Amino acid sequence: MTNHRVENDRRKFLLTVGGGIAGLAAGSLPAQVLAQPAGGAPLSISTIGAGREGGALGALFVKAGHPVMFSSRHPDTLKGLVDELGPLARVGTVEEAVEFGDVVMVVVPYTAMEQIGKDYGNALAKKVLVIDVSNPIARRDDAEIVKWVDDQGGAGLATAKFLPGAHVVRAFNAINYAKLSADAHRPGELVGVPIAGDDPHAIDIASSLIREIGFDPVVIGGLAMGKYLGFPGTLLGGEHTAAEIRQIVTNLH
Ligand SMILES: NC(=O)c1ccc[n+]([C@@H]2O[C@H](COP(=O)([O-])OP(=O)(O)OC[C@H]3O[C@@H](n4cnc5c(N)ncnc54)[C@H](OP(=O)(O)O)[C@@H]3O)[C@@H](O)[C@H]2O)c1
Repeated sequence: MTNHRVENDRRKFLLTVGGGIAGLAAGSLPAQVLAQPAGGAPLSISTIGAGREGGALGALFVKAGHPVMFSSRHPDTLKGLVDELGPLARVGTVEEAVEFGDVVMVVVPYTAMEQIGKDYGNALAKKVLVIDVSNPIARRDDAEIVKWVDDQGGAGLATAKFLPGAHVVRAFNAINYAKLSADAHRPGELVGVPIAGDDPHAIDIASSLIREIGFDPVVIGGLAMGKYLGFPGTLLGGEHTAAEIRQIVTNLH
């Protein structure tokens, strides 16, 4: 068997076992089992949107040992970024990134979400995890879309409408791109990352990946709670420990 084949078989095993265990006891499994680059079983990760936040997050996953495809509608613009990051980083079109990733991060202005759903919704629904980092922001995005998102119950439920069937977890929405690198593996108590999602398997994989890059995942609830995961400056925005996040969330109910 070739190395490539062995690697693929290991990855399939991890993804399947992860699903099986999550189905039995969501949240209680040793999440680090699901993705262990050090153990030779990386997950392919793609970014749709490799600007400030997508670029910085993708770089952390490369450092953790995962192959990452950074995508753009103008892939040539990303050559410098991936050259710096080394052989695990690669560039592609959005279509290639959707094809490449076991896990896809969507890190775009929220106004792009509808089009992405139309163009790639079917393919994204087949991924084990879609990490939604995108925020609807009144001062930046079209007022109509911001209102529509509110009417759906916030960004978590709205993303699920744009990407029907996708295993969406909202995460990293409120940590500034310029802080990500220094926050990762911070000495002392780790920076917590509040996350929200409805699918236990996707939550487990997201939690595992978040730990690998040096943060402490905190599940705050289902996608309906995704409305509380906003841009830096909102209640859960910026750097908090896991305990602080839990305290803030208690006060939200
Ligand atoms: N900046 C932060 O600190 C931060 C923190 C947390 C969350 N966020 C959220 O992350 C998202 C991106 O923010 P950013 O600051 O990284 O923005 P950015 O630097 O402007 O990057 C936006 C990226 O989105 C891509 N994009 C735009 N429209 C697209 C479309 N229709 N299809 C595919 N790709 C598209 C762009 O790719 P092209 O090369 O194809 O133009 C670009 O790579 C926003 O929703 C923001 O609220 C940002």
